[in-house]
Amino acid sequence: MKAQIVVLPGDGIGPEVAAAGVAVLRQIAERFGHQFTFSEHAIGGDAIDRFGDPLPPSTREALLAADAILLGAVGGPKWSDPNAKVRPEQGLLAMRKLLGVFANVRPLKLHPRTAALSPLKPERTQGVDLVFIRELTGGIYFGAKTRSDTDATDECRYSVEEIERVVRHAFELARTRKKKVTSVDKANVLETSRLWRSVATRVGAEYPDVALEHQLVDSMAMHLLTRPADYDVIVTENMFGDILTDEASVLAGSLGLSPSASVGGPGAGVYEPIHGSAPDIAGQQLANPLGTILSAAMLLRHSLGLTDEAAVVEAAVDHVLEQGNLTRDLGGTATTQAVTRAVLDACHAKA
Ligand code: NAI
Ligand code: MG
Repeated sequence: MKAQIVVLPGDGIGPEVAAAGVAVLRQIAERFGHQFTFSEHAIGGDAIDRFGDPLPPSTREALLAADAILLGAVGGPKWSDPNAKVRPEQGLLAMRKLLGVFANVRPLKLHPRTAALSPLKPERTQGVDLVFIRELTGGIYFGAKTRSDTDATDECRYSVEEIERVVRHAFELARTRKKKVTSVDKANVLETSRLWRSVATRVGAEYPDVALEHQLVDSMAMHLLTRPADYDVIVTENMFGDILTDEASVLAGSLGLSPSASVGGPGAGVYEPIHGSAPDIAGQQLANPLGTILSAAMLLRHSLGLTDEAAVVEAAVDHVLEQGNLTRDLGGTATTQAVTRAVLDACHAKA
């Protein structure tokens, strides 16, 4: 198949890990006879430096024509002056808006080789294989805001349509997995959560083969630490998802391992590691490329429908972890390039 893949390296370790993702996609294209074309564009601090705009018109145009988007990371101390007119993160928000992506998907799977790095005991993390789906366009982050000297308000608003489309996404995904959806809200207190719960229940009735449970966000925060292996697909609104996905990310033991996707809009999906630009290790070949490589596997599966190809990449990453070919964050001494090369070899060997 033919695919137009836009690559947004960004800042810090972004270019290093994006290069790893592209190398793996090129290898997969070669092995399976696909024609992927890659075009690199500016975003974030890099785009501010070169164009004075964190998402310049040339990037916007490319994003709208893309079949899928692979992103490194954006941001860094160089652009973090609180009085600056433009900030790198604005590039991410503008991109999400442009593409209409409303579901942020974050799988969390614990590999036995890295289980010891998790702050939880190995018996707690055994068998953890869950996916968070965070609503990305609504809720309190996007509501009306006011502030005076004496008080401030943030409005939280959700429409039925916004809830329904993301909940449906969760049920569709659960059908391909363990057929369980956990919907997280605060329905004992919030009207938006009561609406959320009623929409989730109504949509859930259309999926009799998928079990639905409701959880309050505060108890979910505890269950994530006490029985994470009990979950399959977890769907929640924007702010709860922001907080719970950060909590979940530490369970994996390193930020460098976890992939993500932002999907659901009329445009292409965006695939990126969950970590940031890690300025402390940028340019030193210390970055773990596996989060980006696993994001590339999600890109193959979800944007291009290439299931076998995605499975080859995921098996190669498992193999490299088993071999103990690890970057420093996972307790090893391998460079970014060495780990990437090991994944490429494993992708090849599995032919
Ligand atoms: P960070 O994720 O960049 O780094 C946190 C810690 O994890 C650092 O010690 C870093 O070295 C380590 N780390 C992160 N990714 C790693 C990898 N692949 N391999 C090995 N170690 C890794 O978060 P931090 O330091 O809070 O933010 C740095 C910059 O990144 C800030 O400007 C922030 O705004 C931005 N950021 C961007 C995101 C994005 O592009 N989506 C997401 C989060 C932060
Ligand atoms: Mg966050």
